[in-house]
Amino acid sequence: MYIVLEGIDGAGKSTQISLLKDFLEQNGLEVETVVEPTDSEVGKLIRRLLTRHDATSDAMQRTLGLLFAADRLLIMEKLNKLEEEGKVIISDRSFYSSLVYQEPREWIQELNKYAKIPDLVLLLDLDVEKSVARTDGTDEFENVEFLTAVKENYLKIAEENGNFKIIDANNGPNKVSSDIKKAVAPLFDICADCIR
Ligand code: TYD
Repeated sequence: MYIVLEGIDGAGKSTQISLLKDFLEQNGLEVETVVEPTDSEVGKLIRRLLTRHDATSDAMQRTLGLLFAADRLLIMEKLNKLEEEGKVIISDRSFYSSLVYQEPREWIQELNKYAKIPDLVLLLDLDVEKSVARTDGTDEFENVEFLTAVKENYLKIAEENGNFKIIDANNGPNKVSSDIKKAVAPLFDICADCIR
């Protein structure tokens, strides 16, 4: 099972991933977490480029599109192996991040045609103003104009893909966590009504 958390910067993905991991483990499941960009050499290069002032330029966005796709290809084998072993994979981001952050969409789609399709995508939907207030602005993407476009892209993609569940991330962390657990429970025959 491959579960992905998506959302604009500052949406609380890492906190929620750790809470979801605990919940699934308490229910007897074996869980592995992954993060994109990864800690591969490509991932490290991506993290450096994200802090450049021209990170949102067309040339850099296309370069990042290629690098994110390459970084992702490098973990495909690992993901498939974990799945074969019966582990639940929870991932911080996936190829859907490239589809909403990079352009042009058809080209990004083609670059990611070997990417693994998640069984469930939890879209942590946060107001852009809150996102910008929560992040430190280190990455060039962390600004209102850019993230407004990304948020719109996310909502559009969520509508087009049946594997998306939208979670209101403007709520407090406990409410967000229980909404996530309720969305995930049916995948594992866990009683959703028993979750507070
Ligand atoms: P993230 O780790 O969520 O942010 P941080 O650790 O800084 O809180 O992601 C790093 C940035 O990379 C984020 O701005 C989103 C961007 N990103 C893309 O633009 N395309 C992609 O394919 C991925 C995976 C991330």
